[in-house]
Amino acid sequence: MSAVLFDAATDVLTVAGVASHSAGTLEASFTGKPAAVAAGSIRFEAVEKTYVSSAGPVKALTDITIEVPGGSIFGIIGRSGAGKSSLLRTINRLELPTGGHVLVDGEDISTFHEDQLVALRRRVGMIFQHFNLLSAKTVFANVALPLVVAGVKKQEVKERVAAVLKLVGLEGKENTYPSRLSGGQKQRVGIARALVSRPEILLCDEATSALDPETTLSILSLLKDINRRLGLTIVLITHEMSVIREICDHVLVLEAGRIAETGRVWEVFGNPRHEATRALLKPLDRGLPEDLAGRLNSRWSGKPATALIEFTYTGVGGLQPDLGRILAVLGEDTQIIQSNLDRIQGHVSGRLIVASAARADLHHLIANPDLAHAARIIGYDTPNV
Ligand SMILES: Nc1ncnc2c1ncn2[C@@H]1O[C@H](COP(=O)(O)OP(=O)(O)O)[C@@H](O)[C@H]1O
Ligand SMILES: [Mg+2]
Repeated sequence: MSAVLFDAATDVLTVAGVASHSAGTLEASFTGKPAAVAAGSIRFEAVEKTYVSSAGPVKALTDITIEVPGGSIFGIIGRSGAGKSSLLRTINRLELPTGGHVLVDGEDISTFHEDQLVALRRRVGMIFQHFNLLSAKTVFANVALPLVVAGVKKQEVKERVAAVLKLVGLEGKENTYPSRLSGGQKQRVGIARALVSRPEILLCDEATSALDPETTLSILSLLKDINRRLGLTIVLITHEMSVIREICDHVLVLEAGRIAETGRVWEVFGNPRHEATRALLKPLDRGLPEDLAGRLNSRWSGKPATALIEFTYTGVGGLQPDLGRILAVLGEDTQIIQSNLDRIQGHVSGRLIVASAARADLHHLIANPDLAHAARIIGYDTPNV
């Protein structure tokens, strides 16, 4: 049984090898030189996009310069209308930028002719929120479609579809129609159809938005698995911050068509600098418990009281909430009130709220770089007497 699985895996791995090889050949034939960049890398250079609509021009993207490393999982977030889909769609030239350049594997795709575009779209697969499956065709026919269009021989189509259905966990569903599948299974068909052309880049536009949380998790782990096993670059748009947190290496925050901020997920999520990022991350953050928030005073009366102290961690330098240190500074009667800590890519970030006896030198005590990246007194809780 495991041998069969292994065979399927090697088959698909070979498939990926062929993909990057043929991409190299493509480049050699179109540019006369082999690629000097990692397979599946994308570079946006001063990309602009203005749509012309009946209501006048709409500026969707402004001055986007950013690099997506080959083999990474790259998340794009932003409010509705921020330009996420527009940017994603420039990668397979479903949208042509009105300014700047998009380079895939170092090649400027804006200069591509029709035949090069066809080849590009085989190298760049795409999956969608509503799956975009043909309801009158079976799973097999849906997945086989790109190969049939490309004129691949029948026997090879059969083998490749079988391998890719195995990869996404849909063996035995070849003859099923989409209407008989669950949402998660439909998206697996969408993923299989995108992978059957052996792409080096996979674009996902809100691919898990129509799925329930449990199915979302299973699709995410499939995407991560595909990324690791095939070395595929994945660029994904989502409004679910937990998706970014779960599987992305890098994140780009778009705001009104511009880059708000970008970086490794732990850096951006651990220390969001832009207002748009903070707003997007809000759902991940639990506020102060209401019973407490309601009775806190901002000033200390000088009478016995409990101070609520918030320690903030950004993940930088490996600094972690060390209870021993906190107790050594604040005293043994310190309690943990709330923890909003997270561990992303091995870096601990978030907030820890503790309660400790109010005292005059508290501000000074907590301003200690060994304790946290930032510390503040949220307020004082005076016991009812
Ligand atoms: N084909 C189009 N014609 C005119 N305006 C468009 C078109 N596509 C998108 N837009 C506009 O461009 C902006 C960015 O859209 P989009 O990239 O879809 O944002 P997002 O995916 O972040 O929601 C929005 O203001 C949207 O209305
Ligand atoms: Mg969109």
